[in-house]
Amino acid sequence: MDRRITNLIITGFSGTGKSLVAKEVARRLNWAFLDTDDEIVKQTGKPIAEIFRQDGEARFRELERETIRKACQRGQAVIAIGGGAIVDPQNYELLTKTGLIVCLEAKPETIYERLFCEAACSPETEVRPLLTTDNPLERIRQLKASRQPYYAKADWTIHTDDLSISEVAEEVVRAWRLLRRTHPHLNPLPSRERKLGLQLKADNDIACMVETETQSYPIFVGYGLLDKLGEKMEQAALSGTATIISDENVFSVYGRRVEGILKKSGFAVASFVVPPGEETKSMDYAIKIYDFLVEHRAERDDIIIALGGGMVGDLAGFVAATFLRGMSWVQVPTSLVAMVDASIGGKVGVNHPEGKNLIGAFYQPNLVLADPQALSTLPQRELTSGWAEVIKHGLILDKEFFEFLENNVNKLTKLEPELLTRAIARSATIKAQVVSQDEKEREEKRTILNYGHTIAHGLEVATQYKRFLHGEAVAIGMMGAAKLSQRVGLLVSAAVERQQTLLQKFGLPTGFSGLGLTKITRSMELDKKIKEKAIRWVLLRDIGKAVIRSDVSQKDVLAVLQELAEP
Ligand SMILES: NC(=O)c1ccc[n+]([C@@H]2O[C@H](COP(=O)([O-])OP(=O)(O)OC[C@H]3O[C@@H](n4cnc5c(N)ncnc54)[C@H](O)[C@@H]3O)[C@@H](O)[C@H]2O)c1
Repeated sequence: MDRRITNLIITGFSGTGKSLVAKEVARRLNWAFLDTDDEIVKQTGKPIAEIFRQDGEARFRELERETIRKACQRGQAVIAIGGGAIVDPQNYELLTKTGLIVCLEAKPETIYERLFCEAACSPETEVRPLLTTDNPLERIRQLKASRQPYYAKADWTIHTDDLSISEVAEEVVRAWRLLRRTHPHLNPLPSRERKLGLQLKADNDIACMVETETQSYPIFVGYGLLDKLGEKMEQAALSGTATIISDENVFSVYGRRVEGILKKSGFAVASFVVPPGEETKSMDYAIKIYDFLVEHRAERDDIIIALGGGMVGDLAGFVAATFLRGMSWVQVPTSLVAMVDASIGGKVGVNHPEGKNLIGAFYQPNLVLADPQALSTLPQRELTSGWAEVIKHGLILDKEFFEFLENNVNKLTKLEPELLTRAIARSATIKAQVVSQDEKEREEKRTILNYGHTIAHGLEVATQYKRFLHGEAVAIGMMGAAKLSQRVGLLVSAAVERQQTLLQKFGLPTGFSGLGLTKITRSMELDKKIKEKAIRWVLLRDIGKAVIRSDVSQKDVLAVLQELAEP
């Protein structure tokens, strides 16, 4: 049979969690979600039990067939179907032609427990019409046995007895990715465009996709694109109340405008504004936001909007990851650091008095929307600091991009719209590619993003994060790493000079003064790490080619720090 797979179908007996799982899978894949039973209820205005009672099962099956037919015409939808739908040969043929079928399994005892014991606590749950008998467990056994041959025809089966909804959803996504890769006859969806869904397919605003094991989502970059935020969120199947989290600086410029944009697209909007500055990225403020969400009765399907720089992104993302065990969330980065770095990759968190970013999670947003126009209000020093991360992306992975930056410094620093947008889109794409390959920094791939960060960390800790902005410390750190690369024979001096020239042209520091080396090396924990576990240095063997080396001697590091410290 020729199969054109564009949907994911979730089948299985009642009580296996089809609907909740389908919703979660849709959220993770950024696809639409459909529950055929819900559609029937919406269409008829009657609960399923009432349709059975008043019109009979035959009428229900008729409605179900029609609903499935319509659902199958969609693409990029996760569709939960009724437990008996797959038994109908017409339904089965259509479902299998257009969707990958995943069956959720559970033992009759588990199903009974979920439907009749756990559900008893929820007044909204209605007992399935086919299970209203004196001995429901026995009825579950019989009905399930009669449907088992049909469930067995699914492409993939997941035993859900001991799994949470989120674990089952993870298994479904894993199955989807695995089957897509290994079964070419399923007419898989290899191209980026297909994964974006029909509406997003022709969207020129998409700079790239982040495609991790668990989720894929678009990064939109466009000058003036903020006005389309509501539209992009609708396309990503987001709905409900959007709670904007922002800081005072950003909210005072963009807050009301973003509220208006979202309301225009039909979202209910609430805003929570925090003080600017790194001190706000704390558990205290996370709790204040939880309180606000509780007070406003936020639900799991509602949306958190992080409107601001990296501080707001990390804090709001942490709240989104933890409130109600995970809400939908959207990153609207407004600083250069946030546009090309902090908003991409799903690292969210808050600081602990004992260290930065000690409490956190990996939690990917549903989409990122960066409008470079917002940089026109960013303070100059913050802007300059952000260029360090942009330059870093060229240095570690993309020589052509580095050359583009070299050729356009003047226009870029003046925020010329077209070139600025191109630079941000490319830089964001490089970060997205790296995190897509190594979402949780388990392999070495994501480590290369730390180019310049070892010395930068030493400088920041030695000065208690008060003297340098992060990008400034990274610029100096990158000079240290380039000089080290030269010392160990990896990089030619001309490349080191090109790096230095570009950093300086963007207004970034390439050395420091007035700081004792011991303070820095202690902050880098150089002695300790070198003895117990070698520091993994990210070095360059050419512009655009990063390598990781653990055999750098302390002598070389000290010599390089000495060079950086020279006036
Ligand atoms: N999650 C990650 O992967 C990741 C990566 C890098 C950095 N970070 C985090 O990001 C934070 C740093 O981000 P940042 O440099 O954006 O700092 P930030 O969020 O503190 O913003 C810097 C300043 O600029 C202001 N601002 C931001 N956008 C503005 C705009 N368009 N107009 C006017 N003012 C504006 C802010 O109010 C703030 O005062 C740190 O907390 C860091 O740990 C996270």
